[in-house]
Amino acid sequence: MTETTAPFEPQPLGDRYFQDPLRVFARMREQSPVTSVITPEGQRAWLITRYEDVRKALADPRLSKDWRKLRSPGFVPDPSVGFLMAHMLNADPPDHTRLRRLVQKAFTPGRVAALRPRIEAITASLLDAMAAGVGSGSGSGSDGVVDLITAFAFPLPMTVICELLGIPDGDREEFKTWSQVILSSTATFDEYRAAGGAMYAYFTRLLADKRAAPADDLLSALITARDSGDSLDEPELLAMIFLLLVAGHETTVNLIATGTLALLTHPSELSRLRADPSLLPGAIEELLRYANPLNHATDRYAPEPLEVGGVIIPAGEPVLVVTSSANRDPARFPDPDRLDLGRDASGHVAFGHGIHYCVGAPLARLEGEIAFGALLSGFPGLSLAVDPAALRWRPSSLIHGLETLPVRLR
Ligand code: HEM
Repeated sequence: MTETTAPFEPQPLGDRYFQDPLRVFARMREQSPVTSVITPEGQRAWLITRYEDVRKALADPRLSKDWRKLRSPGFVPDPSVGFLMAHMLNADPPDHTRLRRLVQKAFTPGRVAALRPRIEAITASLLDAMAAGVGSGSGSGSDGVVDLITAFAFPLPMTVICELLGIPDGDREEFKTWSQVILSSTATFDEYRAAGGAMYAYFTRLLADKRAAPADDLLSALITARDSGDSLDEPELLAMIFLLLVAGHETTVNLIATGTLALLTHPSELSRLRADPSLLPGAIEELLRYANPLNHATDRYAPEPLEVGGVIIPAGEPVLVVTSSANRDPARFPDPDRLDLGRDASGHVAFGHGIHYCVGAPLARLEGEIAFGALLSGFPGLSLAVDPAALRWRPSSLIHGLETLPVRLR
């Protein structure tokens, strides 16, 4: 039978959600699997939480990614933040197809495999610095406690994506701050606009420098595509850089950090992996399923009313497809809250599904494999330096990531 509304009044998502989203989603999945909420940003949105519904929704062409279709004709956002939106994750075909094709070839498994020696070298140098107690930035303390995020989980994917794009180092800490504001659900609009404006100015300068001195990197290739006329306009070029840089590090940071937390709080699984490193590729899939670097996929919209799981979602309201909940759905994964590095976790939706399936998945998998392999073999005594209950999660609706992860190396 089709219901016309969700059974609950929209529930506000707040700090309790940030700190334990999976508990909130588990209740919805059981009691009201398609439900409306008030997001931490104060907006009404619809959440889809069961695995079957999630897979279907991610592949459903009636769910649009192009928010511009909902705006009145002629709506022009402020360029300093508008450029943050003109990327492929906010586009439907044919724009999406064109934008994605421009970068997809840089991320094929073959192209990514060629990056292995460089990723291994970056990993080794970060871990050496961490062990020597100098860390990266403020990651290491004199008491033997290290923030694994500052010293390792952040700089590894950030360095890799910057090198791939051809972005010089030096500005990465600043970029981290802007990116965290853009993805925060509690930043004010002024803070958001200031961070967007700073990124806009930074990328504009970067492009001018790159045009003056092109190199063998992805940014130069994208500029050539744009300047040859028919593929990218200037806002799309800026938005592409923004998307690749943010998507290229914000997620993998959390695979490494939250995945490490999962291992350190499941000592028997950790010992199992240390004893049999051949489990590593499968373990990465299970860590993606279990640790869920993103709470949900990015916004979608139904231009027409849409029935999902017996509930009618009204036209125009944002729809959040909750990939982390799908990955814990007992109807798909038996005993889903158990970390089991030997399980077959294939079919997880941590990288999404359908035409927007993560372009960077081969890179993220390779970074994860190298990072966990080196961390576990290099630090046999690695342990948490705080009670897990004291850890804080970032106040972001989208990103499921720790603020810090203090560990002892020996
Ligand atoms: C563990 C790490 C990662 C996770 C969990 C992840 C997750 C995702 C998910 C769920 C989507 C689809 C979002 C949606 O449908 O709304 C996506 C898309 C995307 N990801 Fe990733 N990602 C990761 C790493 C990366 C990396 C390293 C890159 C490198 C540049 C990247 C680039 C992208 C891009 C460009 C898209 C948009 C694809 C499209 O719209 O067709 N991601 N990612």
